[in-house]
Amino acid sequence: MKLTVENSTACKADMDLKSYLREKRELIDHALDRFLPREQDYPERLHAAMRYSLFAGGKRLRPILTLAGCEAVGGVLEHALPAACAMEMIHTYSLIHDDLPAMDNDDMRRGVATNHKVFGEAMAILAGDALLTHAFDVISGTVSPIKEGKRLQMVREIAAAAGSMGMVGGQAVDILSEGKESMELPILEYIHTHKTGALICTAVRVGAIAGDADELRMQDLTEYGKKIGLAFQITDDLLDLLGDEKKLGKPVGSDLKKGKKTYPAVYGIRESQGRARELMESALDSLSRFDHRADPLREIARYMVERID
Ligand code: IPE
Ligand code: IPE
Ligand code: MG
Ligand code: MG
Ligand code: MG
Repeated sequence: MKLTVENSTACKADMDLKSYLREKRELIDHALDRFLPREQDYPERLHAAMRYSLFAGGKRLRPILTLAGCEAVGGVLEHALPAACAMEMIHTYSLIHDDLPAMDNDDMRRGVATNHKVFGEAMAILAGDALLTHAFDVISGTVSPIKEGKRLQMVREIAAAAGSMGMVGGQAVDILSEGKESMELPILEYIHTHKTGALICTAVRVGAIAGDADELRMQDLTEYGKKIGLAFQITDDLLDLLGDEKKLGKPVGSDLKKGKKTYPAVYGIRESQGRARELMESALDSLSRFDHRADPLREIARYMVERID
């Protein structure tokens, strides 16, 4: 039977999610534009490079998770906006550097030519550096009703998630493992939970901190974040094999070319799909103590493994 909007709650939820994502994306894009130096500010070329990748598109999942994390604990959405934008700036910097010839050497990102293809490698490296540092200026320097102590905690969590014990650590092991004959499974999991999982989990956590969550809620959201973070990267690996380049806005088959250690390369497609789904179900279980205000987080978890973009 063909599902219609009228007879499928899943379908209805899907439509609600779409408008939720669109609305939050607009809010974030508007705030990012305010937080970033203008293109005409000197040095113009650097600011143009930063803005080029930041506004090329992108799903804005990390900042949306920050807002949804804040909402889930009953916080005020606007209080989480600087942290949400900081997460997106750091994520975009990681993409600019990930695409460099010395790393994944990819030509397309967010549906357009990669940063180094347009601005050259030196400017792409610097645009990434500047987005990373600007993120910390935004989160610590924006006037905010959040207490100093909490803001310091957010800064420290974001720094840890982005650094050598988090995303950069995962990226390093990803590069060091390229083309290796065998792969120890804990290392594969290390790569995925660090290069991608760390920022995703922290995105949810900083939203909840901005929303003044208690310790129990923080623990539940951390579990949720860890699970969707890993599920998201497994899905990214699957899409590199099975996805549509136009919808993804980046090349497919890139991992195979470079002998990347991915979930499908190690476990096969079916098992990887099963693992992503299991993680998503388990992420939903982590939210059992939450009310309807965590519905966006629930829908985002489903979307993260069912997505095609
Ligand atoms: C791509 O992230 C890089 C990974 C960590 C898998 P996204 O798929 O969220 O990319 P954008 O932000 O939508 O471009
Ligand atoms: C990148 O993982 C994770 C980052 C920290 C950017 P991938 O290398 O698989 O991301 P894509 O597929 O290029 O977006
Ligand atoms: Mg990579
Ligand atoms: Mg890559
Ligand atoms: Mg990938």
